[in-house]
This record gives sequence, structure tokens and C-alpha cells, in this order.
Amino acid sequence: MDLLIKKSGKNNFFTTEYLTREAFWNLYKSGCDEHLVLHQLRESGCYVSDLDLVGILEGEIIGHIISSMARVIDQQNKEHEVLCVGPISVSPPYQNKGIGTQLMNYSITEATKLGFKGMILFGNPEYYHRFGFRNAKEFEITTKDSLNFEPFMALELGDKGLMNVTGRFFEDEAFEIKEEQLIEFEKKFPPKEKGKPKIDINI
Ligand SMILES: CC(C)(COP(=O)(O)OP(=O)(O)OC[C@H]1O[C@@H](n2cnc3c(N)ncnc32)[C@H](O)[C@@H]1OP(=O)(O)O)[C@@H](O)C(=O)NCCC(=O)NCCS
Repeated sequence: MDLLIKKSGKNNFFTTEYLTREAFWNLYKSGCDEHLVLHQLRESGCYVSDLDLVGILEGEIIGHIISSMARVIDQQNKEHEVLCVGPISVSPPYQNKGIGTQLMNYSITEATKLGFKGMILFGNPEYYHRFGFRNAKEFEITTKDSLNFEPFMALELGDKGLMNVTGRFFEDEAFEIKEEQLIEFEKKFPPKEKGKPKIDINI
């Protein structure tokens, strides 16, 4: 598919939040909150407009990916800047057609050009291994609670970008969702029925 990928821009913010809601709804939890995460990322100091990207097919936005600044703090309390990837969304009718792959690859190229050292995410290893993501344990990077598990992955950028980056990973506070804010935010969208999550994740 001949996808045009470009920076999101303010005029596309609502469309991409809507798309994110459609992609995540009832997938990992009843309803979803990833659209509010996206909204909060855009208002946060961790926002990188160059890595807020849309995929456009025949004039319609059908995919979106964002990466934001995050930190790895080492044992000497030194902070290392990395990227946290996500949410990434493809409009449900267009899933499994290579759109997510194109968005991810484009994002990796842009992040490398911008000089970031590495990208970190929580996701399905089956999907992200194809882009080179590996268990973050291999880079001696743990979650903020000093844990490692397969869905917690890192991708090294540039020339051994993560070589001297070890420690605990902290994503931005924008990832924290308050239930009352979600209820308020949901009022901007058409009502949608909550159901049983389709995918069971236990991270
Ligand atoms: C995940 C997502 C972004 C992938 O984009 P996509 O355009 O559908 O995927 P692609 O066409 O690039 O890749 C298709 C491959 O990925 C696999 N895949 C798709 N979604 C997957 C997922 N959530 N977990 C694991 N594998 C997945 C497909 O099985 C297919 O595998 P194959 O190449 O071995 O046949 C998209 O499906 C989506 O928006 N899903 C809902 C939201 C979501 O789960 N986001 C990611 C959270 S970590």
C-alpha cells in the first residue's frame, strides 16, 4: 500500500485520538485509555512533534505512531534520554496490510536521524522482534520497578546507542491515567459500548 507518512500537526490531533480509540477499544481492557495517553503526551514536555506521525492513504488518515522522550536512570543516578514508543494504531479495517510496519520503520529512521540513542516499549514480542527490538534485559535496562519480562523491549539506534545506557526506565507521567479525566475526555467521542477485552495481557 502506497502510504504517505508525515508529521501529525494540530489539525489532525482529534482524528488521531479518535483512530487510537477505535484501534484499542476493548482490546487489552474494557474500553481503552490509549487515546487519552496520546492527548496527554501532546501536552507534556516529553512531546516530540517530529515523532508524532500519521499514515495517510488516499487522503485519509489510517494509521498513527508516536514516540516521546523518556529516561533511563543508572546506578549513579545519571539520566539518559531515550524514547518511549506508543501508542501505535492502525484503523481496524486496514490492519494486517503492512501499515503498522511502514509506520514503525519510518519512526525508527526519523528517531535515528534526530540522534536518539534507543527506543523502548511494552508490546507483543512477536510483533516488535521483526523491527529489531529485544528484551531490554539484554541492554541491562529494567522497568522502574527493576523488572524484566519479554514484552519490555528496547531497540538500539545509531552506532551502539545504548552501550552506556543502563538502569531503570521511566516513561513520562503523561502515561498515567486518572479515571475521572478519562470519563471527562470520553465525552468528546461518540458513545461506544464497553465489552470483554479481546486480548489478555499480564505484564
Ligand atoms: C499492532 C498494529 C499497530 C500493527 O499494525 P498492522 O498494520 O495491523 O500490522 P502489519 O500489517 O504491519 O503487520 C502484520 C503482522 O503483525 C502481526 N500483528 C498485528 N498486530 C499484532 C499484535 N497486536 N501483536 C502481535 N502481532 C501482531 C500480524 O499477525 C502480522 O503477522 P505476520 O506478518 O507474521 O503475518 C495494529 O494491528 C493495531 O493498531 N492494533 C491495535 C492497537 C495495538 O495493539 N497497538 C499496539 C500495542 S503494543
